[in-house]
This record gives sequence, C-alpha cells and structure tokens, in this order.
Amino acid sequence: MKRASRTEKYGDGHRKQDIARTRLGRQLNIRGRRHIIIKTEQQIAGIGKACRLTRDILDALEERIRPGITTEQINQWVHEMTLAGGGIPAPLNYRGYPKSVCTSINEVVCHGIPSPERVLQEGDILNVDVTSIVDGYYGDASRMFLIGEVSEEARRLVEVTRECLYLGIEQVRPGAHVGDIGHAIQVHAESHGYSVVRAFVGHGTGVQFHEPPDIPHYGEPGTGPRLMPNMVFTIEPMINIGDYRVVVLEDGWTAVTADGSLSAQWEHTLRVTEDGVEVLTE
Ligand code: MF3
Ligand code: CO
Ligand code: CO
Repeated sequence: MKRASRTEKYGDGHRKQDIARTRLGRQLNIRGRRHIIIKTEQQIAGIGKACRLTRDILDALEERIRPGITTEQINQWVHEMTLAGGGIPAPLNYRGYPKSVCTSINEVVCHGIPSPERVLQEGDILNVDVTSIVDGYYGDASRMFLIGEVSEEARRLVEVTRECLYLGIEQVRPGAHVGDIGHAIQVHAESHGYSVVRAFVGHGTGVQFHEPPDIPHYGEPGTGPRLMPNMVFTIEPMINIGDYRVVVLEDGWTAVTADGSLSAQWEHTLRVTEDGVEVLTE
C-alpha cells in the first residue's frame, strides 16, 4: 500500500518539507546548506565513480612527483587526467579559485595555488588535494608527498597526520557522533605535541562540493550529529608542529601556519555503511 504523503496527512504547511525529501528536492537542496543529505543508492554509485577517479589521479601522481617539477606541472597533470577520466576538476573557478588542484607545501596548511614559479625542492613536504566531479557527483581526497630526502621531523609529522586520518575513520559507524571523530584525531595529534587546525574542517560531500555536516578534527566524544548509513563526508585533518592558528595570504586562498611551522594533511571521502565505514577514495 502506498504511504500517505505528508501533504495529505498534515496539510499544505508541510509541502516544502515533503518536496525536500524527494530526489529532485535533495538535488536542488531546497532546504539549503543546513540539511545533511542521506544519499540514495544511485547517488552512492555516482559518488563512488568520482571517488575512484580522484584516487586514480593521486595514484598516477605518486609516480610523477619528484624534485625539480613545478606545482603548475601538477596542476596540468591533474586537469588533463580529470578530463581524460570523464570528469571536471571541482576546484577550478570554485568561488573564484584559479586552478584545478590545491598544492600546499611545508608551512602551507591548505588551498595552496599551483604556480610555474614554485619548483619542488628536496626536503619539501607537499599536500596535493584533488576533487573530481563525475556526472555531477564529487570525490575529494588528498595525500602527502615527500620530495626526495625529508627531515626526520617532517617525516614524523606526515606519518602521525596519516594515523590521525585513520583513527578518525575507525570511529565511523551508524550511531557514532561526529565529535567522536575529532576527539580521536585530537588526542593522537596532541599526544605527539602537535596541534589540530581549527579554521578548516572536513565536510559532507558528494552531491555538492561542501555539504553539511562540518567534521571538525577536534572535539568531545558524544557531541555533534549522529552518523547514519549513507551519509557521505570527508575527514581531512590538518596538523601543525607548532600552534594551530593559520593566516590566509593576500591571494585570498593560501592558508599558512601563523608561526611558520610545518603542517600536514591527509583526506579521504567515506560513506557510513550499515555496520561501519567504506573509504570511497581508497
Ligand atoms: N578540496 C578542498 C577540500 O578538501 C577544497 C578546495 S576548495 C578550492 O575541501 F577552491 F580551493 F579548490
Ligand atoms: Co574536502
Ligand atoms: Co580536498
């Protein structure tokens, strides 16, 4: 038997909410950015495809990134590989962002803009953040790249930040709270004397680039929204050796550590499953 629609049950006052629950309503996002989208199976399939393209692009970069290349070269590779894979690079023209990828080196926390002037040097640590759009769906992931021989201090930061991402992922299952993720990450980072960036957070993704909920990489267990199957979001801890504060440069994008200390970041897009988590960009 067909269920009575909310409009029939409750009258016209609920019609907007009713439309919001339809597939078209979800796509139009008529309730605005405050609404967490529980993805349909069709949306999950589309997001999976975008995530696999993003992963494949990062895999291909592993073989190409080395001392002497420029961050603009990485931008061109990402742009070409995204188009070749049937996608569109989400960063390009996103809120005026000028390039197809973010390349964040050393004290750059995130949103570094590729440039033909910036040549990768032995000892640099680099984050490459790729977001692909395929058939309208988004897949967002980033990895760290060690350029040649890197100091022990930098290598340790990169490794601990990766551990932070996976400790966050381990918290993800239906019924867990968003705060459980941030708490696990913060405890691990701070146990190594590092700090967790507050100014940028993980985010719902998939149908739009950035959707609710925010996923802070710090916080208290048992706080924040509860996770439900087929929520899709990123975890992307930014961890600094020094203070957590950041400054955004004159270009309006490049975020650097306020104290000039090194910063690292790793990111995956994941889906809450019936009993745990699926890492879609792995
Ligand atoms: N990929 C980034 C994220 O993880 C967002 C980059 S926005 C851009 O959310 F405009 F800088 F590309
Ligand atoms: Co992201
Ligand atoms: Co990203």
